[in-house]
Amino acid sequence: MSQVVQSRRIRAIDLAKRKAAGVKIIALTAYHAHTAGILDPHCDFILVGDSLGMVMHGMESTLPVTLEMMIVQAQAVIRGTTRALIVVDMPFGSYEASREQAFLNAARVLKETGAGAIKMEGGAHFAETVAFLVQRGIPVMGHIGLTPQSVNTMGGFKVQGRDTEGEHRLMADAKAINDAGAFAIVMEGIVEPVARAIATSPDITTPTIGIGATTACDGQILVLEDMLGLSDRAPKFVKRFGSLRAHIEGAVEAYAEEVRAGRFPADEHTYQPV
Ligand code: KIV
Repeated sequence: MSQVVQSRRIRAIDLAKRKAAGVKIIALTAYHAHTAGILDPHCDFILVGDSLGMVMHGMESTLPVTLEMMIVQAQAVIRGTTRALIVVDMPFGSYEASREQAFLNAARVLKETGAGAIKMEGGAHFAETVAFLVQRGIPVMGHIGLTPQSVNTMGGFKVQGRDTEGEHRLMADAKAINDAGAFAIVMEGIVEPVARAIATSPDITTPTIGIGATTACDGQILVLEDMLGLSDRAPKFVKRFGSLRAHIEGAVEAYAEEVRAGRFPADEHTYQPV
């Protein structure tokens, strides 16, 4: 498998080159400087996702996440990285009211964080907003299918594209966001044949990034804490590539035991006068 060598920070437009070269786009989420630094050499882009509301803050959904929360975590991720493109999620309520609201808040995110792009959830009805931002210098990643910010109107975190109407709507969403100039489209929680039809459609020229979609996408993304095995629950589409929860539990148990037994701190962890 070929690899693309990159010395400067990856830009939004570089993802199209990965697609053209048939090189899979690698992405994960991160919210902290230290984890982002670990991902940086391996990922084409790192998403500061609004999933941080659920993963970091224990919220029931992503709806309470604010622009300020996104900006603080994006600043941390930028500090921890030098190579990957950093994409920041626009949280619920920060872009839906009008294209002007979307522009002002997206511009604030780019100005205050130094990130290279933003991501917005939504299909055909947001295409006009996507075009408005792109024409004004803001690289936009789209996000269609299971869009967690619509949990209340979807009636839960539901897999999309199970019927013909849904299938047609998803294809129309992908085409509209593609034609509006999005530099990539995340496709989340879409039944495989429908996701494959979108990812391989000649009408969809922008790179597609799958999460619970299809291997036919140009790249894949997962929430870091899910794939590391840190979250206690994760959706079906997550493969646990690690078991961090068990490692942390083991380390914390060992620490507690050594403190109770008076074995920690040992001589090598204490300061002597000279
Ligand atoms: O917020 C997030 O982490 C996301 C990914 C699931 C794509 O949007």
